[in-house]
Amino acid sequence: YVLGIDLGTSSVKAVLVNDAGDVSAEATAAYPLIQEESGYSEQDPDEWVKGTLLAVRSVMSESGVAAERVEGMSFSGQMHGLVLLDRDRKVIRNAILWNDTRTTAQCRTIEQVLGDRLLTITRNPALEGFTLPKLLWVKEHEPELYARADVFVLPKDYLRYRLTGQIAMDLSDAAGTLLLDVGAKRWSAEICEALGVDSAVCPPLVESSDEVGTITAQVAEQTGLSPATKVFAGGADNACGAIGAGILGGEATMCSIGTSGVVLSYETDGSADYGGRVHFFNHGQKDAFYAMGVTLAAGYSLQWFRETFAPAVAFDSLLAPLGDTSPGAKGLLFTPYLAGERTPHADAVIRGSFVGMDGAHELGHFTRAVVEGITYSLRESVDILRASGKRVSSITSIGGGAKNEHWLQLQADVFGAEVVKLTTEQGPAMGAAMLAAVGCGWFGSLAECAERFIRPAKTFQPNAERQKQYDELYSVYCDVYAATRPLNE
Ligand code: XUL
Repeated sequence: YVLGIDLGTSSVKAVLVNDAGDVSAEATAAYPLIQEESGYSEQDPDEWVKGTLLAVRSVMSESGVAAERVEGMSFSGQMHGLVLLDRDRKVIRNAILWNDTRTTAQCRTIEQVLGDRLLTITRNPALEGFTLPKLLWVKEHEPELYARADVFVLPKDYLRYRLTGQIAMDLSDAAGTLLLDVGAKRWSAEICEALGVDSAVCPPLVESSDEVGTITAQVAEQTGLSPATKVFAGGADNACGAIGAGILGGEATMCSIGTSGVVLSYETDGSADYGGRVHFFNHGQKDAFYAMGVTLAAGYSLQWFRETFAPAVAFDSLLAPLGDTSPGAKGLLFTPYLAGERTPHADAVIRGSFVGMDGAHELGHFTRAVVEGITYSLRESVDILRASGKRVSSITSIGGGAKNEHWLQLQADVFGAEVVKLTTEQGPAMGAAMLAAVGCGWFGSLAECAERFIRPAKTFQPNAERQKQYDELYSVYCDVYAATRPLNE
Protein backbone atom coordinates (compact mmCIF):
# COMPACT_ATOMS: atom_id res chain seq x y z
CA TYR A 1 0.00 0.00 0.00
CA VAL A 2 0.89 3.66 -0.40
CA LEU A 3 -0.65 6.78 1.11
CA GLY A 4 -1.54 9.90 -0.88
CA ILE A 5 -2.13 13.08 1.10
CA ASP A 6 -3.76 16.10 -0.52
CA LEU A 7 -3.36 19.22 1.60
CA GLY A 8 -6.19 21.38 0.25
CA THR A 9 -7.44 24.84 1.14
CA SER A 10 -10.47 23.73 3.12
CA SER A 11 -9.43 20.22 4.17
CA VAL A 12 -6.80 17.53 3.94
CA LYS A 13 -7.60 14.21 2.31
CA ALA A 14 -5.73 10.95 2.84
CA VAL A 15 -6.16 7.93 0.55
CA LEU A 16 -4.71 4.48 1.05
CA VAL A 17 -4.11 2.84 -2.32
CA ASN A 18 -3.14 -0.74 -3.18
CA ASP A 19 -0.93 -1.89 -6.06
CA ALA A 20 -3.92 -2.16 -8.40
CA GLY A 21 -4.73 1.51 -7.86
CA ASP A 22 -7.82 0.76 -5.76
CA VAL A 23 -8.60 3.01 -2.83
CA SER A 24 -8.85 0.88 0.31
CA ALA A 25 -9.76 3.72 2.64
CA GLU A 26 -9.99 7.48 2.61
CA ALA A 27 -10.55 10.19 5.20
CA THR A 28 -10.66 13.96 5.33
CA ALA A 29 -10.20 16.55 8.07
CA ALA A 30 -11.25 20.18 7.68
CA TYR A 31 -9.57 23.33 8.99
CA PRO A 32 -10.64 26.96 8.91
CA LEU A 33 -9.59 29.88 6.74
CA ILE A 34 -8.60 32.99 8.64
CA GLN A 35 -9.86 36.09 6.83
CA GLU A 36 -9.20 39.04 9.11
CA GLU A 37 -9.49 41.70 6.44
CA SER A 38 -11.02 41.85 2.98
CA GLY A 39 -8.63 40.14 0.56
CA TYR A 40 -6.73 38.37 3.35
CA SER A 41 -6.65 34.57 3.44
CA GLU A 42 -4.49 32.77 5.98
CA GLN A 43 -4.21 29.45 7.75
CA ASP A 44 -2.48 28.16 10.86
CA PRO A 45 0.06 25.55 9.60
CA ASP A 46 -0.34 23.60 12.80
CA GLU A 47 -3.94 22.86 11.77
CA TRP A 48 -2.66 21.15 8.61
CA VAL A 49 -0.51 18.85 10.69
CA LYS A 50 -3.27 18.05 13.18
CA GLY A 51 -5.75 17.37 10.36
CA THR A 52 -3.30 15.13 8.52
CA LEU A 53 -2.44 13.07 11.60
CA LEU A 54 -6.17 12.64 12.22
CA ALA A 55 -6.94 11.65 8.62
CA VAL A 56 -4.04 9.17 8.41
CA ARG A 57 -4.95 7.63 11.75
CA SER A 58 -8.51 7.16 10.64
CA VAL A 59 -7.49 5.67 7.26
CA MET A 60 -5.26 3.19 9.09
CA SER A 61 -7.88 2.12 11.58
CA GLU A 62 -10.70 2.03 9.01
CA SER A 63 -8.72 -0.12 6.57
CA GLY A 64 -7.32 -2.54 9.13
CA VAL A 65 -4.14 -2.70 6.98
CA ALA A 66 -1.04 -3.61 9.01
CA ALA A 67 1.43 -0.73 9.48
CA GLU A 68 4.36 -2.53 7.77
CA ARG A 69 2.29 -2.99 4.61
CA VAL A 70 2.19 0.78 3.98
CA GLU A 71 5.46 1.21 2.15
CA GLY A 72 5.46 4.88 1.32
CA MET A 73 3.61 8.16 1.25
CA SER A 74 3.65 11.38 -0.70
CA PHE A 75 1.87 14.72 -0.87
CA SER A 76 -0.06 17.09 -3.03
CA GLY A 77 -0.58 20.61 -1.75
CA GLN A 78 -2.34 23.90 -2.28
CA MET A 79 0.21 26.00 -4.14
CA HIS A 80 1.95 29.31 -3.45
CA GLY A 81 1.15 29.71 0.30
CA LEU A 82 3.97 31.35 2.28
CA VAL A 83 5.13 29.60 5.46
CA LEU A 84 7.98 31.41 7.23
CA LEU A 85 10.16 29.46 9.65
CA ASP A 86 12.72 30.79 12.12
CA ARG A 87 16.10 29.27 12.97
CA ASP A 88 14.45 26.78 15.32
CA ARG A 89 12.03 25.80 12.55
CA LYS A 90 9.12 27.43 14.37
CA VAL A 91 6.36 29.04 12.31
CA ILE A 92 6.74 32.83 12.50
CA ARG A 93 3.26 33.89 11.39
CA ASN A 94 0.14 32.34 9.86
CA ALA A 95 0.59 31.10 6.31
CA ILE A 96 -0.54 33.59 3.65
CA LEU A 97 -2.46 31.52 1.10
CA TRP A 98 -2.72 31.40 -2.70
CA ASN A 99 -6.12 33.12 -2.70
CA ASP A 100 -4.95 36.10 -0.62
CA THR A 101 -4.94 39.26 -2.73
CA ARG A 102 -3.22 41.83 -0.51
CA THR A 103 -0.08 41.97 -2.65
CA THR A 104 -0.98 44.07 -5.71
CA ALA A 105 1.60 46.76 -4.83
CA GLN A 106 4.36 44.14 -4.45
CA CYS A 107 3.45 42.68 -7.88
CA ARG A 108 3.90 46.13 -9.46
CA THR A 109 7.30 46.46 -7.74
CA ILE A 110 8.40 43.05 -9.06
CA GLU A 111 7.36 44.06 -12.59
CA GLN A 112 9.17 47.40 -12.37
CA VAL A 113 12.36 45.95 -10.95
CA LEU A 114 12.60 42.88 -13.20
CA GLY A 115 10.89 43.98 -16.43
CA ASP A 116 11.16 41.29 -19.13
CA ARG A 117 13.54 39.22 -17.01
CA LEU A 118 10.65 38.05 -14.84
CA LEU A 119 8.97 36.20 -17.70
CA THR A 120 12.25 34.99 -19.13
CA ILE A 121 13.37 33.45 -15.85
CA THR A 122 10.15 32.36 -14.14
CA ARG A 123 7.98 31.94 -17.29
CA ASN A 124 5.17 33.60 -15.35
CA PRO A 125 3.84 37.11 -14.67
CA ALA A 126 3.67 38.64 -11.17
CA LEU A 127 0.29 37.66 -9.73
CA GLU A 128 -1.05 38.38 -6.24
CA GLY A 129 -1.41 34.68 -5.46
CA PHE A 130 2.25 33.76 -6.00
CA THR A 131 4.77 33.50 -3.16
CA LEU A 132 7.40 36.17 -3.86
CA PRO A 133 4.88 39.05 -3.57
CA LYS A 134 3.81 37.62 -0.20
CA LEU A 135 7.43 37.47 0.97
CA LEU A 136 7.91 41.12 -0.06
CA TRP A 137 4.67 42.08 1.70
CA VAL A 138 5.92 40.61 5.00
CA LYS A 139 9.29 42.29 4.50
CA GLU A 140 7.57 45.65 4.02
CA HIS A 141 4.74 45.42 6.55
CA GLU A 142 6.15 43.14 9.24
CA PRO A 143 9.91 43.78 9.14
CA GLU A 144 10.47 42.41 12.64
CA LEU A 145 8.91 39.07 11.61
CA TYR A 146 10.75 39.02 8.29
CA ALA A 147 14.05 39.56 10.10
CA ARG A 148 13.47 36.32 12.01
CA ALA A 149 12.86 34.26 8.85
CA ASP A 150 15.49 31.61 8.27
CA VAL A 151 13.74 29.70 5.50
CA PHE A 152 10.39 29.77 3.68
CA VAL A 153 8.44 26.75 2.55
CA LEU A 154 5.08 26.00 0.90
CA PRO A 155 2.15 24.35 2.72
CA LYS A 156 2.79 20.70 1.93
CA ASP A 157 6.55 21.19 2.47
CA TYR A 158 5.82 22.33 5.99
CA LEU A 159 3.63 19.30 6.54
CA ARG A 160 6.36 17.02 5.17
CA TYR A 161 8.88 18.72 7.45
CA ARG A 162 6.70 18.01 10.49
CA LEU A 163 6.37 14.36 9.46
CA THR A 164 10.06 13.78 8.67
CA GLY A 165 12.14 16.61 10.17
CA GLN A 166 13.54 17.33 6.67
CA ILE A 167 13.20 20.70 4.91
CA ALA A 168 12.81 20.54 1.13
CA MET A 169 10.72 21.94 -1.71
CA ASP A 170 9.97 20.13 -4.96
CA LEU A 171 10.29 21.86 -8.31
CA SER A 172 6.59 21.69 -9.25
CA ASP A 173 5.68 23.76 -6.19
CA ALA A 174 8.81 25.94 -6.31
CA ALA A 175 7.74 26.94 -9.84
CA GLY A 176 4.83 28.88 -8.31
CA THR A 177 7.02 31.05 -6.08
CA LEU A 178 8.33 33.43 -8.80
CA LEU A 179 11.80 32.79 -7.41
CA LEU A 180 12.60 29.74 -9.51
CA ASP A 181 14.41 29.68 -12.82
CA VAL A 182 11.84 27.23 -14.20
CA GLY A 183 13.85 26.09 -17.23
CA ALA A 184 17.15 25.71 -15.35
CA LYS A 185 15.45 24.15 -12.28
CA ARG A 186 17.29 26.27 -9.71
CA TRP A 187 16.61 29.31 -7.54
CA SER A 188 17.21 32.55 -9.37
CA ALA A 189 20.04 34.44 -7.70
CA GLU A 190 19.26 37.32 -10.06
CA ILE A 191 15.68 37.69 -8.79
CA CYS A 192 16.70 37.33 -5.15
CA GLU A 193 19.35 39.99 -5.52
CA ALA A 194 17.20 42.42 -7.51
CA LEU A 195 14.43 42.29 -4.90
CA GLY A 196 16.58 42.21 -1.82
CA VAL A 197 15.68 38.68 -0.78
CA ASP A 198 18.54 36.75 0.86
CA SER A 199 18.79 33.56 -1.23
CA ALA A 200 19.54 31.65 1.99
CA VAL A 201 15.77 31.72 2.75
CA CYS A 202 15.16 29.44 -0.25
CA PRO A 203 14.98 25.76 0.78
CA PRO A 204 16.84 22.87 -0.92
CA LEU A 205 15.15 21.79 -4.17
CA VAL A 206 14.16 18.19 -4.94
CA GLU A 207 12.17 16.31 -7.60
CA SER A 208 8.59 15.25 -6.75
CA SER A 209 9.55 11.58 -6.82
CA ASP A 210 12.64 11.98 -4.62
CA GLU A 211 12.73 10.15 -1.30
CA VAL A 212 13.30 12.67 1.48
CA GLY A 213 13.42 10.27 4.43
CA THR A 214 11.10 8.32 6.66
CA ILE A 215 8.51 9.46 9.19
CA THR A 216 9.63 10.24 12.73
CA ALA A 217 9.01 7.78 15.55
CA GLN A 218 6.58 10.22 17.10
CA VAL A 219 4.51 10.51 13.90
CA ALA A 220 4.54 6.72 13.58
CA GLU A 221 3.06 6.49 17.03
CA GLN A 222 0.49 9.21 16.37
CA THR A 223 -0.76 7.69 13.11
CA GLY A 224 -0.38 3.94 13.41
CA LEU A 225 2.12 3.90 10.52
CA SER A 226 5.47 2.11 10.68
CA PRO A 227 8.54 4.32 11.33
CA ALA A 228 10.02 2.71 8.20
CA THR A 229 7.36 4.39 5.99
CA LYS A 230 9.25 6.10 3.18
CA VAL A 231 8.35 9.69 2.40
CA PHE A 232 8.55 11.05 -1.16
CA ALA A 233 8.60 14.78 -1.83
CA GLY A 234 5.27 15.15 -3.68
CA GLY A 235 4.10 18.08 -5.74
CA ALA A 236 1.80 21.05 -6.30
CA ASP A 237 -1.88 20.11 -6.30
CA ASN A 238 -2.20 20.93 -9.98
CA ALA A 239 0.83 18.82 -10.89
CA CYS A 240 -0.52 15.95 -8.78
CA GLY A 241 -3.99 16.42 -10.27
CA ALA A 242 -2.34 16.06 -13.68
CA ILE A 243 -0.52 12.89 -12.61
CA GLY A 244 -3.74 11.47 -11.13
CA ALA A 245 -5.58 12.19 -14.38
CA GLY A 246 -2.84 10.64 -16.52
CA ILE A 247 -1.67 13.94 -18.06
CA LEU A 248 1.79 12.52 -18.64
CA GLY A 249 2.67 12.94 -22.28
CA GLY A 250 1.93 14.37 -25.72
CA GLU A 251 -0.76 17.04 -25.78
CA ALA A 252 -2.78 15.52 -22.94
CA THR A 253 -5.00 18.18 -21.36
CA MET A 254 -7.25 18.23 -18.34
CA CYS A 255 -9.99 20.43 -16.95
CA SER A 256 -10.31 20.41 -13.18
CA ILE A 257 -13.23 22.18 -11.53
CA GLY A 258 -12.91 22.53 -7.78
CA THR A 259 -13.11 25.77 -5.79
CA SER A 260 -10.92 27.21 -8.52
CA GLY A 261 -10.86 25.75 -12.00
CA VAL A 262 -7.90 24.93 -14.19
CA VAL A 263 -7.22 23.91 -17.74
CA LEU A 264 -3.83 22.22 -17.74
CA SER A 265 -1.85 20.82 -20.63
CA TYR A 266 1.30 18.67 -20.71
CA GLU A 267 4.48 20.23 -22.11
CA THR A 268 7.36 17.98 -23.12
CA ASP A 269 10.03 20.64 -22.83
CA GLY A 270 10.43 24.14 -21.54
CA SER A 271 10.45 25.84 -24.92
CA ALA A 272 6.75 26.60 -25.45
CA ASP A 273 6.08 30.32 -25.34
CA TYR A 274 2.72 31.49 -24.08
CA GLY A 275 4.05 34.95 -23.23
CA GLY A 276 2.86 34.61 -19.63
CA ARG A 277 -0.81 34.41 -20.67
CA VAL A 278 -1.08 31.03 -18.95
CA HIS A 279 1.05 29.75 -16.07
CA PHE A 280 4.03 27.63 -17.04
CA PHE A 281 5.27 25.34 -14.28
CA ASN A 282 7.49 22.29 -13.77
CA HIS A 283 5.51 19.03 -13.78
CA GLY A 284 5.74 16.39 -11.07
CA GLN A 285 7.15 14.17 -13.81
CA LYS A 286 10.88 14.75 -14.07
CA ASP A 287 12.01 17.19 -16.79
CA ALA A 288 8.46 17.86 -17.99
CA PHE A 289 6.32 21.01 -17.67
CA TYR A 290 2.71 22.07 -17.96
CA ALA A 291 0.86 25.14 -19.13
CA MET A 292 -2.19 26.09 -17.11
CA GLY A 293 -4.97 28.66 -17.12
CA VAL A 294 -6.86 29.36 -13.89
CA THR A 295 -10.43 30.48 -13.20
CA LEU A 296 -10.37 31.70 -9.61
CA ALA A 297 -14.05 31.22 -8.78
CA ALA A 298 -15.15 28.06 -10.61
CA GLY A 299 -16.88 25.68 -8.18
CA TYR A 300 -16.84 28.57 -5.75
CA SER A 301 -19.26 30.51 -8.01
CA LEU A 302 -21.74 27.67 -7.88
CA GLN A 303 -21.27 27.21 -4.16
CA TRP A 304 -21.78 30.95 -3.57
CA PHE A 305 -24.86 30.93 -5.79
CA ARG A 306 -26.44 28.01 -3.97
CA GLU A 307 -25.65 29.30 -0.47
CA THR A 308 -26.95 32.75 -1.31
CA PHE A 309 -30.04 31.99 -3.36
CA ALA A 310 -31.00 28.35 -2.85
CA PRO A 311 -29.54 27.06 0.42
CA ALA A 312 -32.33 24.52 0.82
CA VAL A 313 -31.78 22.98 -2.62
CA ALA A 314 -29.35 20.03 -2.85
CA PHE A 315 -26.62 20.28 -5.52
CA ASP A 316 -28.11 17.46 -7.60
CA SER A 317 -31.52 19.13 -7.82
CA LEU A 318 -29.93 22.50 -8.39
CA LEU A 319 -28.05 21.13 -11.40
CA ALA A 320 -31.12 19.36 -12.83
CA PRO A 321 -31.79 22.15 -15.39
CA LEU A 322 -28.54 21.16 -17.14
CA GLY A 323 -30.50 18.15 -18.39
CA ASP A 324 -32.12 20.54 -20.85
CA THR A 325 -29.17 20.56 -23.21
CA SER A 326 -30.15 23.68 -25.20
CA PRO A 327 -27.38 26.27 -24.93
CA GLY A 328 -27.93 29.55 -23.10
CA ALA A 329 -30.24 30.23 -20.20
CA LYS A 330 -32.91 32.10 -22.14
CA GLY A 331 -30.67 35.12 -22.65
CA LEU A 332 -29.08 35.08 -19.21
CA LEU A 333 -25.28 35.20 -18.99
CA PHE A 334 -22.93 35.02 -15.99
CA THR A 335 -19.27 35.96 -15.55
CA PRO A 336 -17.60 34.18 -12.59
CA TYR A 337 -15.35 36.98 -11.37
CA LEU A 338 -16.49 36.83 -7.73
CA ALA A 339 -12.89 37.03 -6.54
CA GLY A 340 -11.28 38.68 -9.56
CA GLU A 341 -9.88 36.58 -12.37
CA ARG A 342 -6.54 35.01 -13.30
CA THR A 343 -6.68 33.76 -16.90
CA PRO A 344 -6.86 35.59 -19.23
CA HIS A 345 -7.27 38.89 -17.37
CA ALA A 346 -4.88 38.68 -14.36
CA ASP A 347 -7.18 41.13 -12.64
CA ALA A 348 -7.79 41.03 -8.89
CA VAL A 349 -10.29 43.89 -9.06
CA ILE A 350 -12.85 42.78 -11.69
CA ARG A 351 -16.12 41.43 -10.28
CA GLY A 352 -18.73 39.13 -11.82
CA SER A 353 -22.12 39.84 -13.32
CA PHE A 354 -25.43 38.48 -14.46
CA VAL A 355 -26.36 40.03 -17.80
CA GLY A 356 -29.70 39.84 -19.62
CA MET A 357 -32.10 39.21 -16.73
CA ASP A 358 -35.77 38.81 -17.57
CA GLY A 359 -38.76 38.79 -15.21
CA ALA A 360 -39.50 35.29 -16.47
CA HIS A 361 -36.14 33.86 -15.40
CA GLU A 362 -36.27 31.25 -12.66
CA LEU A 363 -33.74 29.60 -10.41
CA GLY A 364 -32.94 27.02 -13.09
CA HIS A 365 -31.97 29.70 -15.63
CA PHE A 366 -29.64 31.32 -13.13
CA THR A 367 -28.04 27.99 -12.25
CA ARG A 368 -27.52 27.15 -15.89
CA ALA A 369 -26.04 30.60 -16.53
CA VAL A 370 -23.58 30.12 -13.63
CA VAL A 371 -22.43 26.72 -14.94
CA GLU A 372 -22.12 28.05 -18.50
CA GLY A 373 -20.19 31.13 -17.26
CA ILE A 374 -17.69 28.98 -15.37
CA THR A 375 -17.22 26.81 -18.47
CA TYR A 376 -16.78 29.84 -20.77
CA SER A 377 -14.10 31.15 -18.44
CA LEU A 378 -12.22 27.83 -18.77
CA ARG A 379 -12.72 27.94 -22.55
CA GLU A 380 -10.67 31.15 -22.56
CA SER A 381 -7.72 29.09 -21.29
CA VAL A 382 -8.35 26.39 -23.90
CA ASP A 383 -8.32 29.13 -26.55
CA ILE A 384 -4.93 30.45 -25.39
CA LEU A 385 -3.43 26.96 -25.69
CA ARG A 386 -4.94 26.55 -29.16
CA ALA A 387 -3.78 30.00 -30.29
CA SER A 388 -0.23 28.85 -29.58
CA GLY A 389 -0.61 25.91 -31.89
CA LYS A 390 -1.69 23.21 -29.49
CA ARG A 391 -4.34 20.79 -30.69
CA VAL A 392 -6.68 20.38 -27.78
CA SER A 393 -8.88 17.58 -29.05
CA SER A 394 -9.45 15.55 -25.89
CA ILE A 395 -9.79 16.86 -22.34
CA THR A 396 -9.90 14.71 -19.19
CA SER A 397 -12.33 16.31 -16.76
CA ILE A 398 -11.88 15.90 -13.01
CA GLY A 399 -13.11 17.48 -9.79
CA GLY A 400 -16.61 18.56 -8.77
CA GLY A 401 -17.35 19.64 -12.35
CA ALA A 402 -16.93 16.05 -13.53
CA LYS A 403 -19.61 14.67 -11.24
CA ASN A 404 -22.59 15.77 -13.34
CA GLU A 405 -22.84 14.18 -16.80
CA HIS A 406 -24.85 17.06 -18.25
CA TRP A 407 -22.06 19.43 -17.24
CA LEU A 408 -19.53 17.09 -18.87
CA GLN A 409 -21.55 17.23 -22.12
CA LEU A 410 -21.73 21.01 -21.77
CA GLN A 411 -17.92 21.09 -21.40
CA ALA A 412 -17.54 19.05 -24.61
CA ASP A 413 -19.89 21.42 -26.46
CA VAL A 414 -18.30 24.63 -25.10
CA PHE A 415 -14.66 23.45 -25.50
CA GLY A 416 -15.29 21.85 -28.88
CA ALA A 417 -13.33 18.82 -27.72
CA GLU A 418 -13.97 15.28 -26.58
CA VAL A 419 -14.32 15.19 -22.78
CA VAL A 420 -13.24 12.09 -20.86
CA LYS A 421 -14.51 11.11 -17.43
CA LEU A 422 -12.47 8.69 -15.30
CA THR A 423 -13.77 5.77 -13.24
CA THR A 424 -12.31 6.48 -9.86
CA GLU A 425 -11.82 10.10 -9.26
CA GLN A 426 -9.40 10.86 -6.47
CA GLY A 427 -7.74 13.87 -8.08
CA PRO A 428 -4.46 15.16 -6.60
CA ALA A 429 -4.49 12.65 -3.70
CA MET A 430 -4.20 9.85 -6.28
CA GLY A 431 -1.38 11.72 -8.03
CA ALA A 432 0.44 11.86 -4.69
CA ALA A 433 -0.16 8.13 -4.13
CA MET A 434 1.22 7.46 -7.64
CA LEU A 435 4.40 9.39 -6.81
CA ALA A 436 4.82 7.16 -3.76
CA ALA A 437 4.05 4.01 -5.79
CA VAL A 438 6.72 4.89 -8.36
CA GLY A 439 9.11 5.97 -5.58
CA CYS A 440 8.66 2.59 -3.88
CA GLY A 441 9.67 0.91 -7.13
CA TRP A 442 6.27 -0.61 -7.97
CA PHE A 443 6.52 0.87 -11.48
CA GLY A 444 9.32 2.13 -13.68
CA SER A 445 7.56 5.41 -14.44
CA LEU A 446 4.47 7.46 -13.69
CA ALA A 447 3.12 6.61 -17.16
CA GLU A 448 3.42 2.90 -16.38
CA CYS A 449 1.65 3.47 -13.07
CA ALA A 450 -1.10 5.46 -14.84
CA GLU A 451 -1.72 2.55 -17.19
CA ARG A 452 -2.59 0.41 -14.19
CA PHE A 453 -4.26 3.00 -11.96
CA ILE A 454 -6.27 5.25 -14.26
CA ARG A 455 -9.24 4.10 -16.31
CA PRO A 456 -11.50 6.17 -18.57
CA ALA A 457 -15.17 5.58 -17.73
CA LYS A 458 -17.04 7.54 -20.35
CA THR A 459 -16.44 9.90 -23.24
CA PHE A 460 -18.55 12.89 -24.27
CA GLN A 461 -18.36 14.12 -27.88
CA PRO A 462 -19.19 17.70 -28.85
CA ASN A 463 -22.42 18.17 -30.78
CA ALA A 464 -21.77 20.35 -33.86
CA GLU A 465 -24.98 22.34 -33.64
CA ARG A 466 -24.71 23.12 -29.94
CA GLN A 467 -21.02 23.90 -30.36
CA LYS A 468 -21.95 26.60 -32.88
CA GLN A 469 -24.57 28.09 -30.57
CA TYR A 470 -22.12 28.10 -27.68
CA ASP A 471 -19.49 29.77 -29.87
CA GLU A 472 -21.88 32.68 -30.38
CA LEU A 473 -22.79 32.95 -26.69
CA TYR A 474 -19.11 32.70 -25.76
CA SER A 475 -18.23 35.66 -27.95
CA VAL A 476 -20.81 37.76 -26.02
CA TYR A 477 -19.30 36.44 -22.77
CA CYS A 478 -15.84 37.59 -23.86
CA ASP A 479 -17.16 41.14 -24.35
CA VAL A 480 -18.65 41.42 -20.85
CA TYR A 481 -15.26 41.79 -19.15
CA ALA A 482 -14.30 45.07 -20.83
CA ALA A 483 -17.86 46.40 -20.73
CA THR A 484 -18.20 45.94 -16.96
CA ARG A 485 -14.61 46.74 -15.95
CA PRO A 486 -15.36 50.45 -15.27
CA LEU A 487 -17.80 49.37 -12.53
CA ASN A 488 -14.83 48.17 -10.49
CA GLU A 489 -12.50 51.12 -10.89
C1 XUL B 1 -2.74 27.57 -8.90
C2 XUL B 1 -3.54 28.01 -7.73
C3 XUL B 1 -4.58 27.12 -7.19
C4 XUL B 1 -4.08 26.46 -5.95
C5 XUL B 1 -5.26 25.79 -5.28
O1 XUL B 1 -1.90 28.54 -9.42
O2 XUL B 1 -3.35 29.08 -7.19
O3 XUL B 1 -5.00 26.18 -8.13
O4 XUL B 1 -3.06 25.58 -6.22
O5 XUL B 1 -4.89 24.91 -4.34
